[in-house]
Amino acid sequence: MFRTRITELFGIDYPIIQGGMQWVSRAELVAAVSNAGGLGILSALTFSSEELKLELRKTKELTDKPFGVNLSLLPTLRPVNYEEYIDVIIGEGIKIVETAARSPEPYMGLFRAAGIKVINKCTAVRFARTRSDSTAFSEQFITFDFDQGGVALTGGVEYGFALGFAAHWAYLRIFF
Ligand SMILES: Cc1cc2nc3c(=O)[nH]c(=O)nc-3n(C[C@H](O)[C@H](O)[C@H](O)COP(=O)(O)O)c2cc1C
Repeated sequence: MFRTRITELFGIDYPIIQGGMQWVSRAELVAAVSNAGGLGILSALTFSSEELKLELRKTKELTDKPFGVNLSLLPTLRPVNYEEYIDVIIGEGIKIVETAARSPEPYMGLFRAAGIKVINKCTAVRFARTRSDSTAFSEQFITFDFDQGGVALTGGVEYGFALGFAAHWAYLRIFF
């Protein structure tokens, strides 16, 4: 068992966050990660909003440990009604959301009002900078990944910095 700001922030035993993976991070995987002491993240867009509700209930049956929901804000051919997904997430009492692909700023008010901790996954330091400079993001935690739901890193060198920066930056940017 570790004690870090990440473990304290999310109420987990180890500072390990399983990234949301569409089609893959369903109830079983998410519950397994959370039961093992990490933070499991369920991928919302694998499901319709109605199916998501059922999958969240299934996850809650499989684990009583904290877990989160990934909401990828990618451009899609068929428009996604994100508010509908967020309604389900809030209605099911989820307190951790991982966003990716685009700034979650339009939804931060909803998340904040529901007391949801937002993990904002970025692929470049500049995105993190822009987002964390905005007052809408005073309650988020930023992680860096090589890709985020298909949005790959745009500048190779930056990733190197991002990795080195990540611990430092994330440490500085936790406001909860
Ligand atoms: C099969 C697969 C599906 C993924 N689907 C999503 C997704 O729906 N949303 C998302 O934000 N990231 C998605 N990702 C990205 C992962 O969450 C994670 O950011 C990425 O694998 C990089 O993590 P790493 O640096 O620890 O390897 C997916 C990754 C994989 C391999």
